[in-house]
Amino acid sequence: MKLQLASLALWASSALAFAPNSLPSRNNRAVGYVPSSISSLHAAALEPPPLSPLTQWGDRIENIRALQAELKARELPPFAPELSAVKDCGLAREDTEGQLAYVRDNAMRIKTMMQEHGAVVFRDFDLMKTQEGFQAFYAAIGMKACLDPLHSVSARPTVDGQKNSPVYEAVNKESRKNFFIGMHNEFVGTRAPRAAAFVCFKAAETGGEFLVADGRRMFRDLDADLIEELYNREIRYSVMELPFFGWIDNLPSFVQQPAMNVVRGAVSAAINAKVDFDVELLWGEGGYDGTRMLQARAPSQPPIVKHPVTGDPTWFCNVHSHSSKLRHQRESIYGAERFEDGASQINKSDMFFGDDGELSEAQLKQLDEVTVKNTRYVKMTEGDVVLLDNYKTMHGRNVFDGTRKHGVAWFEGWEGEADMKQQFQAEGASQKVVA
Ligand SMILES: [Fe+2]
Repeated sequence: MKLQLASLALWASSALAFAPNSLPSRNNRAVGYVPSSISSLHAAALEPPPLSPLTQWGDRIENIRALQAELKARELPPFAPELSAVKDCGLAREDTEGQLAYVRDNAMRIKTMMQEHGAVVFRDFDLMKTQEGFQAFYAAIGMKACLDPLHSVSARPTVDGQKNSPVYEAVNKESRKNFFIGMHNEFVGTRAPRAAAFVCFKAAETGGEFLVADGRRMFRDLDADLIEELYNREIRYSVMELPFFGWIDNLPSFVQQPAMNVVRGAVSAAINAKVDFDVELLWGEGGYDGTRMLQARAPSQPPIVKHPVTGDPTWFCNVHSHSSKLRHQRESIYGAERFEDGASQINKSDMFFGDDGELSEAQLKQLDEVTVKNTRYVKMTEGDVVLLDNYKTMHGRNVFDGTRKHGVAWFEGWEGEADMKQQFQAEGASQKVVA
């Protein structure tokens, strides 16, 4: 009950309905348009997708405080508006061909909405109730599918079980249902998809809401001192914990250090051969019993970046999902994480300053509070899709009961992106001239 009330409170505070500005209308269908069938688009999507693109860090921001002050003075567009096939597009729920034609005709406007508002929530589209229809949907918008960014380190299951399918399971496993997936941008090592579409094929009986958080408002709302410290010291993730080295403590003390050196060297070589980014191994203590373990830490990186297309500064940091302390705190609400296999134990993560210093309790508390404040619970039903910009919008998942089948497709970019970038740059330049 406590959980339901908490979810309800967040849902209520974020569900203020508003009509998105300049909704695409079905009437402006291009002259001479020939709608493609769902099956023809699906056939085209069967090509194995390319690798997830490299993360675009952009130029270093010279004065992060001034940039935050600039953002505070701006009125930000509403976050993640809804687009209903019935209410906004004048289409019947079951008119899947009409829906496909609609998204194709309004592809550029939909992508612009995603850029301006961070995400678009599609409702009442029967088109996306099937995987085939979902793939046709994003292909018609011009989104270019790519491989899961986790591809090089582990295989995320695909919804239909096909090896080359671009539609992956979005954490539906029964064993992970009481694990609240904290807010994060999809990012692994050096790779980050530019955008993603999350689809609901079957909603969980209870909970399981998809969560989105606005990265621009996150950056805007954090305390300026904390922003400055995080940006100047940067951040660093521990991407893996290897908790198998308690046996070293049982060795005679004079061999412990040499054994640790040998183990660290061997594990370091093995991991660096497997992943396409540099990993440094540090000895630490983990778990509740302080067992000796190795932590694999990724290179340091900035927690705020400028968006590759629009230049907007946005929070790009997974402290909410990766901080070990924040996860432990959530266990007091949702129950302890269940590690049913060795792999999920190894995947435990943490976050530090770039110089390996720890964030304080007060800093973590603020980061948690500002994240929660800017998070929206999206209760999805069959066929609903959230199309989001992976730089401007973080995602997560509420705990659930029952059977949940949500999928995700990642995108390396989209058709018309270069034009969009030029347009945003021109608009930015003209605003400066006017100012
Ligand atoms: Fe994710």
